[in-house]
Amino acid sequence: MFNNNCTQDVDTAFAHDVEKGLSRQPKMLSSMYFYDRRGDELFQAIMRMPEYYLTDSELEIFTGQKDQILNAVGDEPFELIELGAGDGYKTKVLLSHFLEKEVSFVYRPVDISPNVLHHLQQDLKKQWPELLVRPLNGDYFRMLERLQSEAGHRKVILFLGANIGNYTYDEAADFLSQLCAQMGPDDLLLIGFDLKKDPAVILDAYNDRAGITAAFNLNLLERINRELGADFVIDEFHHWETYDPVNGAARSYIVSKKEQTVQVEALGRSFHFEAWEAIDVELSLKYSPNELEELAHRAGFEPLRHFYDDRRYFVDSLWRVR
Ligand code: AVJ
Repeated sequence: MFNNNCTQDVDTAFAHDVEKGLSRQPKMLSSMYFYDRRGDELFQAIMRMPEYYLTDSELEIFTGQKDQILNAVGDEPFELIELGAGDGYKTKVLLSHFLEKEVSFVYRPVDISPNVLHHLQQDLKKQWPELLVRPLNGDYFRMLERLQSEAGHRKVILFLGANIGNYTYDEAADFLSQLCAQMGPDDLLLIGFDLKKDPAVILDAYNDRAGITAAFNLNLLERINRELGADFVIDEFHHWETYDPVNGAARSYIVSKKEQTVQVEALGRSFHFEAWEAIDVELSLKYSPNELEELAHRAGFEPLRHFYDDRRYFVDSLWRVR
């Protein structure tokens, strides 16, 4: 969802956010910057690894309950808008089913990466020439505003993969309230949440044995080296994961193994790390069914249906404006 592009704007924002994040105490960098080309590849690898149950769970939900999902959505024509479409791996299960049932819809993937959208469009064209795809390049809200001004069909918005988990509860409520304000009475939102479960299962998903998640997180430092001319020595840092079963927060940190100073050429300055100083890089928030129900209400929604996988690890929840 948070895929980046390589326009001047984003580069400037990246430099600015790196400067701000490494200057503050504690240091932090936003997980939205994980997704450069290499980051996209590593995330694909994460989705294929056995410990990362989230992808399997959501795929199981779509594969096993596509009929129920379509029934709940209804067969009146709609625009299927996906926020942060990525490679469309799981969405394809729904697209394929909707096509098979001859539902009248247009698929509108939204992403801030023109590159990701281009690949997705080419790929879908090859697989289903009859599918109407109209990508929207830009940030979520600008795109939704644009869609609102186009007279058209009702909107079915997809926000999948537990992407909402990168926000704190308050940020999520805020984001969803804004989304709600852009939606009409006939529009729907299908949103994926990762659920609270055995802490060991969650910790393993973000701390795999093969070290793919570690490489994914550390790629952020490599990206700063590549794009901002920094001299991070990756071996001098390591990945650390925590999960707090009380608040449901899985958090990723990059820890400096020793006292060191890192130079960032593009910023014309250096940053000092104490031995064992950590950079806060990602929040992946897990919900209980009650918490997500409460979140829906706080943001102005009414949940209509919950689609769980068999293990109850994950839920895709269908909401309408209250
Ligand atoms: C894409 C944000 C849902 O938080 O589970 C996977 C990203 N980070 N492994 C998540 C991620 C480490 C992922 N989301």
